[in-house]
Amino acid sequence: MPTFLMTDPDCFDVCYQINPWMRPGAWSAASLPAAKAASAALKGALKAAGGRVETVEAVRGLPDLVFPANAAVVLDGQVLLARFRHPERQGEEAVFRTAFAGLQRRGIVSGVHDLPEGVFQEGAGDAIWDADRSFFWVGHGPRSSRASVGVIERTFGRQVVPLELASERFYHLDTCFCPLAGGFLLYYPPAFTAEALATIRALVPPELRIEASDREAAAFCVNAVNLGEQIIMAKAPSSLRRKLRARGFVLTEIDLDPFILSGGAAYCMTLRLDRTSDPASALLAAE
Ligand code: ARG
Repeated sequence: MPTFLMTDPDCFDVCYQINPWMRPGAWSAASLPAAKAASAALKGALKAAGGRVETVEAVRGLPDLVFPANAAVVLDGQVLLARFRHPERQGEEAVFRTAFAGLQRRGIVSGVHDLPEGVFQEGAGDAIWDADRSFFWVGHGPRSSRASVGVIERTFGRQVVPLELASERFYHLDTCFCPLAGGFLLYYPPAFTAEALATIRALVPPELRIEASDREAAAFCVNAVNLGEQIIMAKAPSSLRRKLRARGFVLTEIDLDPFILSGGAAYCMTLRLDRTSDPASALLAAE
């Protein structure tokens, strides 16, 4: 069963700025009820799509804990804990370490690993498992270090394809890149360096590439959760709805505006814990 980690949104707020989308001035305590409702709606959509959700408790002073995609890279029960680039988020490392120790005791994950000193890596936000191709796409640049690429390859013993991100606006790979069932790829080309774009286009044939427009990417729709034909994402422009429906996908849209004020949406509010490198699991997910 697809198993997701989410964080209780009780201590979410937008009180610092570490990416260009973050708008502390637009946030007030009055925004919290809408954030809680949005998080609950996302959890409901994951369950309706056949998922199960594990929850990390909120911690005061760590507002971005609501984005557990950045907590770790997880595959085959192995967990590589993140190291955050910005001091504002480094306090989350100990919280997620404790959370994964608990998940390990319960048998939900089986091994926990650390990054070498000096290497930044912001979890599944920058290391996206492509179930159809059986490799990791690894983003680096604004947040994760180039050196994280080799660490991920050695930790999981799987192929990795590095992609350098070209802008601070699309600071994590998951803001601009989303592999979908059936080998499709939803991505936002301007987020990548010329070399990274050439890599993507060499590995994904044109008929499987779905390009997001500026507007679709700015609506945080590329930051989506995909389960078979289901895609769960922030409110989508109709242009994107059409593109995805034409490929047979079924969309669930959720008003995630409070989290977009922090530069995040559906994918990064979750972390898949059950992914395996077994190719049969891709076939199951695509059914
Ligand atoms: N405010 C958070 C940050 O800048 C948002 C993180 C969103 N996570 C993601 N994987 N895109 O780190």
